[in-house]
Amino acid sequence: MDKKTELENLNKKWMEECQCELKKTATQAVPGDGSPEAEIVFIGEAPGRSEDQLGRPFVGAAGKFLEEMLSAIDLKRENIYITNIVKYRPPNNRDPLPEEKSACREWLLEELKIISPKVIVFLGRHAMNNFFPALQISQAHGKLLIKVFKGMSTKYFFPLYHPAAALYDGSMREILMEDFKKIPKIIKEIEKRQA
Ligand code: URA
Repeated sequence: MDKKTELENLNKKWMEECQCELKKTATQAVPGDGSPEAEIVFIGEAPGRSEDQLGRPFVGAAGKFLEEMLSAIDLKRENIYITNIVKYRPPNNRDPLPEEKSACREWLLEELKIISPKVIVFLGRHAMNNFFPALQISQAHGKLLIKVFKGMSTKYFFPLYHPAAALYDGSMREILMEDFKKIPKIIKEIEKRQA
């Protein structure tokens, strides 16, 4: 089975089986989106209003900024893969609760196993703390993390601030753009280590 079909089957299964309480208030599930063959997977927090309406991740203001950063490093959205730790919109965009994160955790891990990217980029602290609970985003952003997780082939992780945090804050925007521009070098570094 190719990766595209595997992902379609996975999303169909989880949309039926996911026990997340957020299902009751969200319009629809927002599964991951992009190339199943992607070398880079970006993980955000949870869908917002636009994502909830359209059923695709990062299609609002934060998504527009993400696309701007991708284009600064010559990447297109269709060549990467974007997903969230929680697949349903929390009411009024509040932070997802621990039990909501747990309800979608296996869905996310199975997605990552199928794609098996070279690197996973965390967009914000929620995504990072889902894998590295003890880290602070203010310390860890822009630094390559290497860790082997049971059952996961990807061991390289790169935390960034969340694009929404940088939308109305010029200095944060600069930090995020500088960190983002390290991605091509990081991919080369990973390829060298894997050669
Ligand atoms: N913010 C996120 O974390 N995810 C989205 O899909 C949109 C905004």
